[in-house]
Amino acid sequence: MTQRALYRPALVVLESPEAVAAEVAQRILRFVETRAHPVLGLATGRTPLAVYARLAAAHRAGTSFAAVESFNLDEYFGLGPAHPGAFACYMRRHFFEQVDMLAGHGHVPSGLGDPALEARAYEATIAAAGGIGLQLLGIGRNGHIGFNEPGSEFDSRTRIVTLDESTRRANAKDFPEGTEVPREAITMGIGTILEARRIVLVATGEAKSEALHAAFHRPPSRGCPASALQLHPRVELVCDVGAAQGLRL
Ligand code: GLP
Repeated sequence: MTQRALYRPALVVLESPEAVAAEVAQRILRFVETRAHPVLGLATGRTPLAVYARLAAAHRAGTSFAAVESFNLDEYFGLGPAHPGAFACYMRRHFFEQVDMLAGHGHVPSGLGDPALEARAYEATIAAAGGIGLQLLGIGRNGHIGFNEPGSEFDSRTRIVTLDESTRRANAKDFPEGTEVPREAITMGIGTILEARRIVLVATGEAKSEALHAAFHRPPSRGCPASALQLHPRVELVCDVGAAQGLRL
């Protein structure tokens, strides 16, 4: 590793996953309500579901997301946006269709077409939007962020990647019976993620405690992609007591 300043995340530990979701939703809402053009980076997985539910409730109570532009971290490769396992489908169901975001403002990388072209276009669209102001981020049990699996370079950009078997097994529950989890995905790179001005990392449950420990209590290394977050000066880690078990921050 080259000599670079290392930072600790601002840690908030709460009693329950519900309290975590409420806190993270509050942070996103404050961000959205105080900017003319809020640009969000968004994540999928089980963990953010309760956050999206709270954002949808805030919309029903009067908050507008019409000025928001968002960029999802990743998508399975080979799946069209209508496939029930696709993150595009997840995002429409849990967020885009629950709020008043404008058509075309919720970007999800395309899992179809030429991956190199799509990756370049995705980076260009993020740049054209002025970069990501607040990135909502989860963490995989193996320390992945987005779909940057262990071994990913810290300066990696949006690209096609091969999924770890452990990731495919962990995500099989999100696919209809009898359908296979794709072997490849398109993901923002670690370098892309680190360019977000602010990162809100959310983790709940004991199953995430080892990954968090590896991310923040060992020197940054490619073996744990989330450890790259030590290079970012503005990471807010919001987790429950289960996930926080191994942390002494
Ligand atoms: C998925 C996503 C990640 C997510 C992670 C954890 O594979 N690509 O962005 O953070 O896995 O998901 P969960 O919240 O379901 O544990």
